[in-house]
Amino acid sequence: MAIGDWQWDETLFAGAAAYYRRGRLPYAPGLAQALGRALDLDGRGRLLDVGCGPGTLALDLAQLFAEVVGVDPDPGMLVEAERAAADTGLGERATWIRARAEDLPGDLGVFDVVTFGQSFHWMDQERVAATVLGLLRPGGAFVHVADLKTEDQKTADQKTADPKTETRDAEGLPHPPVPYAAVDDLVRHHLGPVRRAGQGTLPHGTPGGEAEVLARAGFGGPERLVVAGGQTLERSDDDVVAWVFSLSSSAPHLFGESRDAFEADLRALLTRASPSGRFSERQPGTEVRVWRKEPALPGP
Ligand SMILES: C[S@@+](CC[C@H](N)C(=O)[O-])C[C@H]1O[C@@H](n2cnc3c(N)ncnc32)[C@H](O)[C@@H]1O
Repeated sequence: MAIGDWQWDETLFAGAAAYYRRGRLPYAPGLAQALGRALDLDGRGRLLDVGCGPGTLALDLAQLFAEVVGVDPDPGMLVEAERAAADTGLGERATWIRARAEDLPGDLGVFDVVTFGQSFHWMDQERVAATVLGLLRPGGAFVHVADLKTEDQKTADQKTADPKTETRDAEGLPHPPVPYAAVDDLVRHHLGPVRRAGQGTLPHGTPGGEAEVLARAGFGGPERLVVAGGQTLERSDDDVVAWVFSLSSSAPHLFGESRDAFEADLRALLTRASPSGRFSERQPGTEVRVWRKEPALPGP
């Protein structure tokens, strides 16, 4: 897959897996219940989670299915997913497969639900949408899951299309907020002003616009669910360091031999922001968009 001059390559998340689960904020509590209700899931179906990372979403939703298959091209992510599945006693109900979404094996069988947790934007969306349509049973669901954007993260178009929003104001919480802007500046200082991704750069980020792609592929929808966030979270400096290294734009491989020097600068910045090494923030809400493979019309 290419975005402008940028080409996908296998180093996109190289070295990030070990930091992912600790560093990333969880999806909003209640996500599994909300999705279970919306899709009428009763623990019997099959889930395919594409771009599963360390199994975050697949494991959150596993209670709703009899079988879970996770797919990701990053071998480190799959090691973490397997470990987490073993820890949660999922055993043989979970399978983890190393593949890109564009090259899914042909023998996966039919699924009731296919999920994408903050991963579809990395894919050749037209091609993957067509593949997923073929893997879903009639009436099955293509489910996109992402952190709900805050007002200042939205583009002007997104603000018009979707006036519903949340703030993640950390005012009044016991510890200082995570100094995200200063962390961003530090990453730029070490890696250059243009966003890095794998072996290339992504000056304009990754594409949105999946609604048009999925409509063209023949899906119906979307139905939108928002699972509210807002709960108070406490994060340590180690959690924030893990968050930084979990991102494709500041994954460990990008720093080469300067990795330790970057981490030392990052830790010094965090200590200046919070001498206790504790930070407060609010749980993001989770936005879920559900598209359906239309059931076949009854015959004459
Ligand atoms: C931001 S992480 C999301 C992980 C997990 N789904 C979650 O919700 O936390 C994106 C994941 O997509 C995977 N990914 C990137 N490009 C992919 C592709 N072409 N096919 C399948 N997975 C891909 C990455 O390896 C990474 O694990």
